[in-house]
Amino acid sequence: MKRKIANLQAKIAEAKLGGGQNRIDSQHKKGKLTARERIHFLVDEGTFEEIGMMVTHRSTDFGMETEKYLGDGVITGYGNVNGRLAYIFSQDFTVFGGSLSETHAEKICKLMEMAMKNGAPLIGLNDSGGARIQEGVVSLGGYADIFYRNVQASGVIPQLSAIMGPCAGGAVYSPAITDFILMVENTSYMFVTGPNVVKTVTHEEVTSEELGGANTHATKSGVTHFACANEIEAINHVKKLLSYMPQNCEEVAENLPYQKTDESRPSLNTFLPENVAHPYDVREIISAIADGDSFLEVHKDFAENIVVGFARLAGRSIGIVANQPAYLAGVLDSNSAIKAARFVRFCDCFNIPLLVLEDVPGFLPGTDQEWNGIITNGAKLLFAFSEATVPRITVITRKAYGGAYDVMNSKHIGADMNYAWPSAEIAVMGAKGAAEIIFKREIATAENPQEKWLEKEKQYSDIFANPYRAAERGFIDEVIEPAQTRAKLIKAFKMLENKVVNNPRKKHGNIPL
Ligand code: COA
Repeated sequence: MKRKIANLQAKIAEAKLGGGQNRIDSQHKKGKLTARERIHFLVDEGTFEEIGMMVTHRSTDFGMETEKYLGDGVITGYGNVNGRLAYIFSQDFTVFGGSLSETHAEKICKLMEMAMKNGAPLIGLNDSGGARIQEGVVSLGGYADIFYRNVQASGVIPQLSAIMGPCAGGAVYSPAITDFILMVENTSYMFVTGPNVVKTVTHEEVTSEELGGANTHATKSGVTHFACANEIEAINHVKKLLSYMPQNCEEVAENLPYQKTDESRPSLNTFLPENVAHPYDVREIISAIADGDSFLEVHKDFAENIVVGFARLAGRSIGIVANQPAYLAGVLDSNSAIKAARFVRFCDCFNIPLLVLEDVPGFLPGTDQEWNGIITNGAKLLFAFSEATVPRITVITRKAYGGAYDVMNSKHIGADMNYAWPSAEIAVMGAKGAAEIIFKREIATAENPQEKWLEKEKQYSDIFANPYRAAERGFIDEVIEPAQTRAKLIKAFKMLENKVVNNPRKKHGNIPL
């Protein structure tokens, strides 16, 4: 037995060395952690249990039978992240560049099935040269096996992907299906075809970083939700993100203990600029409403005209969607609608109540928007809110104009509680534009058209530039003093805690993609 145990220990030691010390050193030289170090920083100490440590590949082409590494380039297992069970796979770049073989894929699939069966989040730490070139189609099949399971798991358990190195070709599609992507600046990149292919096909000269680095995907494409300065920051973000989520779709996120204090926020009564055309940063309203510094912004640098993220309200995890007047006056456009729709759908999948802060002058006009499908894209957000069954509350702080009023979680599309500040303006459009259209003839034929226009603008504004018309109809449940917003929201979310909605039976809706 002693000899057998020694043999086991030798094998474990061999597995822990992955592709060997030289390759580990080279990984460190690139400023990257190893697959095992990443797991070490992610899980609570002593909780990680590895599954499939002795798995090796089965390839016999190109002399591969003579080069085998225990674990075959991916460490899979389960452990606790801040006290809660999670399933983790971590690709080991020191073994064939973390490339995905048939067996490497099988290990990930096995883990995904366990995560689904046992209802706990799946965290992928990606660092891979893509399909194991020596294995050909079986490796491609392995990817598809993973994609299929990603889709099966979607909406069942939270799936998070941290990209810690290369992620190219077909490899990108597993993270793309998962709920959140985090990338590390300078050491990770994602693209379907790399710079060399791009140069051959389109003659564009572009570096890997420009084409698919963390900042590119955080700002231009929106592929990644977070661009992190380094791997430790990315791992800490994974932990923080998980803290707002339940383990699976049957559960609700844990309520943190909360000591009731004075919930009024007098600063909000004087927060809005005097001039309705002036911008402000909606994050300041969020900070005033949410618990302490609980707001975790998602997709911060993409489509900045809408702000989305998680926060806590009296200890309860909520998702926030807020128009951002500080950027493009907070208009809705294609990217902001797509960004917000995806976030709303995530929250709805995992029973996270939604708070909408609305100050929206409408949709962004222009050929660029129309030709790039603002109709379809705007409809995504409308669809996402309408189908969401979680508690949904809206606070209109200022403008709620046109179709954007309907889209932004209006009463009409199923919101549970709709509040407005006295500063709210709920109308088809701003008074100036409205007067110009409906009093066109009167203005044109007036002795002083400019004066007439101002008179008519005031007339329209007096009628609609307030929340009371909507409140008379019950489209707004209550007009509230801004200072009372937090107190009202705490009570309303508590009141909605046991909300049940029975939507019509269907296979699934057909969101306009
Ligand atoms: N299949 C098999 N082995 C691979 C591999 C793959 N897809 N990608 C990398 N490797 C191996 C390399 O042969 C090398 O092995 P070695 O340590 O025995 O020398 C090791 O992984 C490290 O790769 P290397 O090229 O030295 O690292 P790098 O940091 O300079 O470059 C990549 C990383 C990912 C850019 C580069 O390896 C690459 O272009 N790989 C192929 C990507 C691809 O086209 N994949 C298929 C499409 S899905």
